[in-house]
Amino acid sequence: MRVLTGIQPSGDLHIGNYFGSIKQMLEAQKRSETFIFVANYHAMSSGNGGEKLAKLTIQTATDFLALGINPQKSTFWIQSDVKEVLELYWVLSSFTPMGLLERAHSYKDKTAKGINANHSLFSYPVLMAADILLFSPDIVPVGKDQIQHVEIARDIAIRFNNEYGDILKIPEFKIQEDLATVPGTDGQKMSKSYGNTVDIFSDEKKQLKIIKKIVTQNVSLEEPKEFLNCNVYNMAKLFLEKSELVALQNRYKAGGEGHGHFKLYLAEVIWDYFKEFRLKREYYMANQGEVREILLQGARKASTLSGEMIEKIRTATGIRY
Ligand code: ADP
Ligand code: TRP
Repeated sequence: MRVLTGIQPSGDLHIGNYFGSIKQMLEAQKRSETFIFVANYHAMSSGNGGEKLAKLTIQTATDFLALGINPQKSTFWIQSDVKEVLELYWVLSSFTPMGLLERAHSYKDKTAKGINANHSLFSYPVLMAADILLFSPDIVPVGKDQIQHVEIARDIAIRFNNEYGDILKIPEFKIQEDLATVPGTDGQKMSKSYGNTVDIFSDEKKQLKIIKKIVTQNVSLEEPKEFLNCNVYNMAKLFLEKSELVALQNRYKAGGEGHGHFKLYLAEVIWDYFKEFRLKREYYMANQGEVREILLQGARKASTLSGEMIEKIRTATGIRY
C-alpha cells in the first residue's frame, strides 16, 4: 500500500497540528510505503517567497524529521527537487476544465474574503494533482479541507486516462480521523491565525508564559473545580495516560489547588512529552548537512518513480517525438 502526503511549510508547528494530523501521518509510516514531501511550490501561492520561503522549507523538513519521519522507511523530499512535477502540472492543465477550478473551495473562500487571487492560487489543485499522480499512491490521507483537491485529482486523472489509456492511478483519499479539535489558550480551536497556540518547539520560559495565559474560570483556591470544561484539563488530556488523568481529575475535585497549579503541571507534562523530539531537533539543527543529504536521497528515490511516469506520459501525449 503506497501512501502519499504533502506538507505545507507554514511555520512553527503547534500541538493542534501534532495531535490533529502529524501523529497519524507518522503512524502510517509503520504500516505502509510512505511518500512525504515539503510542498514549497504550493507555499508560493499564499505569497511566501524569497529568503523566508527558503528558511520555512528547511525548518519544516527539520521539524518533521525531529518529530519522527524515518528516512529509512519513508521517501522524504522537497517538492521542488523533483522537477517532473512541473511538467506533469502543465500536461494535466490541458485536462482541467476551468469550471472544476472555479468550484474549488480554496480559491472561492479566498476570493470571497477579498484576497486578490493570482493564477497560482487558482491552479493550485492542478499542481496538487501532479504531486499525487506522479507517484501512483493508493491513498492520500487528508484533512477535510483537502478532500475536494483529491477529488479534483481523480477527475483530472480519469479525463487523462480516457484520452491516453490507463496510465495514471486513480487515488483514494482517506479522511484523517479527527481527534477532538485541540483547544488553544483561549478555548477556541488552536490555530496560528488566532494567535492562541502552544508551539511544539519553543523555549521553556516562553512556553510556560503562554501556558500561564490559558483562560480559566475564576474560582477561589479552596473550592473544588470543574475539569470538564477547563481549557487546561482539555489540553492535558491529550498527553496523559488514563491513570494520570484520573489523578488530575481528583486534584480538581479536591479543591485546595488553583488553576495556576494545574498550569504548572501542564507545562511540565508538555515539556516532558516533546523531550525526545526536542533533542532530535537540536541534533538536526546542528547537523543541517545531514538534513540536506536525507532530502537529496529522498528526491533521488522519488525521481526514479517520477522519471518512469513522465516518460510514459511524454510518449503517450506526443511530447516525446
Ligand atoms: P493553523 O490553523 O494553525 O494554520 P493548519 O491549517 O496549518 O493550522 O493545520 C495543519 C493541520 O493541522 C491540518 O491537518 C489540521 O487538521 C491540523 N490542525 C490544526 N489545528 C488543529 C487543532 N486545533 N486541532 C486539531 N487539528 C488541528
Ligand atoms: N494542499 C495540502 C495542504 O495545504 C498540501 C499538499 C500539497 C498535499 N500537495 C499535496 C497534500 C499532495 C496531499 C497530497 O495541506
